[in-house]
Amino acid sequence: MSWYIHHVNLESHNVRQSADFFINIIGLPEGKWMYPDQVGKVGHSPETIAYFGTQNQGLHIVKAITSFARDNKFIHNPTIGGHFAICVPDVNAVKAKLTSEGIVVSDAGVYAMAGIHQIYCYDPSMNIVEINEVVDPIGGQGPSANQDHPVRNEPGNWYIHHVNRQVHDIKKTAYFYESLIGMKKDVFHTPGADEVGDFDRSEDSLVVFGPENRGLHLVRGMPTFHTDNGFMHNPTFGGHVAITVPDVKAVMDKMDKVGHLYSDAGTYAMAGMHQVYTYDPSMNFIEINQEIS
Ligand SMILES: [Fe+2]
Ligand SMILES: [Fe+2]
Repeated sequence: MSWYIHHVNLESHNVRQSADFFINIIGLPEGKWMYPDQVGKVGHSPETIAYFGTQNQGLHIVKAITSFARDNKFIHNPTIGGHFAICVPDVNAVKAKLTSEGIVVSDAGVYAMAGIHQIYCYDPSMNIVEINEVVDPIGGQGPSANQDHPVRNEPGNWYIHHVNRQVHDIKKTAYFYESLIGMKKDVFHTPGADEVGDFDRSEDSLVVFGPENRGLHLVRGMPTFHTDNGFMHNPTFGGHVAITVPDVKAVMDKMDKVGHLYSDAGTYAMAGMHQVYTYDPSMNFIEINQEIS
């Protein structure tokens, strides 16, 4: 069963300030949100949501709405603390598996995005996860038959490379994504011995779903990860989204110009990838990377 990261939702305290960061520093053009005919109580305006991508895939920058779960009769509030969404071929089959294991699910139906059936739950490390299915394709969305999380270049020539989640029980959490959501594990492709950084790559600390390092990375929080590797930012805490851009040096130049702090990790963890870590204006941890081989 193929799957892909459909979107990443980041909570923002000031949506226009965050949008400015993603537009002017990272270089992403704003996209156009597509609502379904029957919209739930989402209460969105340009002050509460900014969107990057096409067909609702990509990055969602959202202001927390305290009453969102109550207003929509959900258990989960997907606007608080952010979340990520996995698109699967059959959301009802996933829902049946989750509920059979006693996992509480909010079935939102089609309520916020045109043609997309969304459900929400917590993974075993209490990360909020959306699972969705394209039930009414507009212009060829939906999982591709031959590859998990394929590269999907958005206007501005960027794509969501991976989502990183900090986990507390790596075995249970890996079981959740593998056996209940139906994702396929893969190996982590590191650079050569002369380039690779100082970190624990065993299955007790890192489990990867998706090909060529793209997809989902589950990591154990490692307190000295940043100091061991000479970084300011510790990418093993609190999770992050990684965005691949055509020119990471241009992004660093723009951050330098405005005094926005970042860690240039170089190529240290993923083969053929130059990685840079920073925080967005609402202190979401963001990785920006570039394919270099
Ligand atoms: Fe979402
Ligand atoms: Fe990462």
